[in-house]
Amino acid sequence: MDQGSKKRQAARAAIELLEPGIRLGVGTGSTVNLFIEELARVADRVSAVVASSHETERRLKAAGFTVSDLADAGDLDLYVDGADEANKHFHLIKGGGGALTREKVLAAASRRFVCIIDDSKWVATLGKFPLPVEVVPMAQSYVARQMVRARGQPVPRKDFVTDNGNLILDVHNLVITNPPDLETRFNQIAGVVTVGLFANRPADVILMATDSGIKRFDRR
Ligand code: A5P
Repeated sequence: MDQGSKKRQAARAAIELLEPGIRLGVGTGSTVNLFIEELARVADRVSAVVASSHETERRLKAAGFTVSDLADAGDLDLYVDGADEANKHFHLIKGGGGALTREKVLAAASRRFVCIIDDSKWVATLGKFPLPVEVVPMAQSYVARQMVRARGQPVPRKDFVTDNGNLILDVHNLVITNPPDLETRFNQIAGVVTVGLFANRPADVILMATDSGIKRFDRR
């Protein structure tokens, strides 16, 4: 099965978790774009929907949804999003699409976080995918030096500004043996807005599409 079909399969599996009256957060990326398409078929189940990026908001509106601000929606029942890497501890790397800050806010504000991936995202150790770090523009070179001290190779993302007006450093070749600890340490660097490690608030459920169907993992 090709990767696109697997992404669609994972998106469909997440639709089955939506209870009537749900207040839903929606992530960003190609897997989520398929989820939005599927969501339009069960729009009557959704009582409020909040977007993690301008792009997702645009797609939700095009699918007929009224998109709420998080401030109006309050705490969410469920957050659905993809990932760039996931491991068996439900730790994730996210931010390949640059929406990591708002994604992290919605994951934090949600009772349950369901991550939808195809099996190419499943890894034993996080870090092959360069770690996205959102930084305020004037701190870019300072943060980059701290990344080098942590033995990473930061590469400024070209021609990219986040929805929050910030920049992204993609940090290559990090050895991420303890994701919660690295997330905490990088979060403390002045000028860092968000680290694309989702480990202190990991996923609760991973729906992974494989050639032999969906594998579901539930965090205890
Ligand atoms: C967006 O900023 C990212 O966190 C995405 O969730 C992640 O990159 C997965 O995207 P795809 O579904 O396109 O692989």
